[in-house]
Order: sequence, then structure tokens, then C-alpha cells
Amino acid sequence: MSKPILLGVNVDHVATIRQARGSNYPDPVHAALQAELAGADGITMHLREDRRHIQDDDVIRFAACTQTKLNFEMAATAEMVALAHRIKPMDVCIVPEKREELTTEGGLDVAGNANALTPMCNDLADAGVRVSLFIDPDKKQIDATARTGSPFIELHTGSYAEAETPEQRRKELDKIIEASAYAASVGLIVNAGHGLTRHNVAPIAAIEQVHELNIGHSLIADAMFMGLPEAVRQMRQIMREARMQAS
Ligand code: PXP
Repeated sequence: MSKPILLGVNVDHVATIRQARGSNYPDPVHAALQAELAGADGITMHLREDRRHIQDDDVIRFAACTQTKLNFEMAATAEMVALAHRIKPMDVCIVPEKREELTTEGGLDVAGNANALTPMCNDLADAGVRVSLFIDPDKKQIDATARTGSPFIELHTGSYAEAETPEQRRKELDKIIEASAYAASVGLIVNAGHGLTRHNVAPIAAIEQVHELNIGHSLIADAMFMGLPEAVRQMRQIMREARMQAS
């Protein structure tokens, strides 16, 4: 029997709505606690350098009351590492960040930045944080991540999610399947995410090496029409059924 797949809920876009009006609602911490009650296995908050959605205080408040775990998503900067030391999340996911992008557009170039990333990963690991690097499904990046000593990767599923034809989607899915098997063979735990929806998540959830999926935008969008607890429950069920059928 394969292991159940975990769902990490990204609540950034609850904060996006709050920041659009400069109000004090909706509160992403409220959403995170509701998602936990509905069965989320963890919560992701991305504190971007420009603070466009999640604010420092959101992360601090949630870290103090989570009943599951906080996955603190951050850029590889000294400021964010210092915050991670202060907040002490269970997980940190290091992502590339460009100010002009709408969302995280590509994976980290771990192979090209190993000298800067490795000490950062070691420093966070020494503080008891489980480090994950967000990378494209690419063997060179997987090997480079394994050399940093990080226990986790998160595979970027954006190219799969945005594929315009069934052939292209199949090609991108095959890359993720191959990358997952390869990463597991070199001892990495495999997470994945970006652009996943209730309609495209099943083939990714069916990949036996995938440990956790991190999903935000589509879940918060579904929450507008069905409420967040129901959106979380349905996503979790689709993922678990896909995994069970594959085993
Ligand atoms: N994983 C990572 C590393 C991300 O940067 C994001 C987007 O913030 C997600 C998962 C979730 O992507 P989406 O919001 O498209 O579900």
C-alpha cells in the first residue's frame, strides 16, 4: 500500500484580498486555521520581499498557533533567513523571487548558486528546520539539491499546469514522473506544486514518490464558491483517490 499523500494549503491569496483594500480582513491566519480543521496537513505562507500579500505578523501569529505545521516560503536572502530563525517553522521552502513577477515563475538555479545556497541550507538545518528547494523537474538541479544536504525538493508543476495541448501536458507530466523517481533514488523527499487545480491534480497525486502537494490559488478561488473547508476537503479527496487508484 502506498503512503497517503499530504496537502499543504497556501493562504497567500487571502492576504492578497486584504491588502487590496488595506483593511484588516480577510485574515490569512483565520483561513489557515479553517483549512487545518478541514484536513489540511500543513499551511504555506510566502513572505515576499515586497510584502505584497502575507505580512510578517501573519507568519508570526500563525506559527504560534498552528496545529499542523507551517511551511515558510521565502527567497534566499539574509533578511528571510533571520526571520526563519525567529519564527522557527517546521519547514522552509526556498524559492526564487523577482519583484516584477506575478507568482513564482520558475525553479531555483541550485546548480548555479550552490556556493550561496549550501551554507544557508546548513544553517537552517542546524536550527531544526526541514529545508526544501523549489526546482524545475531537471536532473542537474536534483543532483545539485542533493549535494546541499537538503532533505526535500519541491518540483515546479507550472509547465505541466499551463500546457496548452494534451501532448505537451503528457510531456511535462513525464518529466515530473521521471524527476520524482530520480530524486527519490538519490534520497530526496519529493513535494510538488504550482498551478494545481481540482481538474489537473490527479495525475500528479498519483505519482508514488510525491509526498506532499502545495496548492494555493485554485483552492482560494474555489473557496469563494464553496467555502474553504469544502474546497480543502474535495481537493484532499481527489488527491487521495488518485493515489489509491495508482497503487
Ligand atoms: N509551491 C510554491 C513553491 C509556490 O511558490 C507556490 C505559489 O506561491 C505554490 C506552491 C502554490 O501555487 P498555486 O498558488 O499556483 O497553487
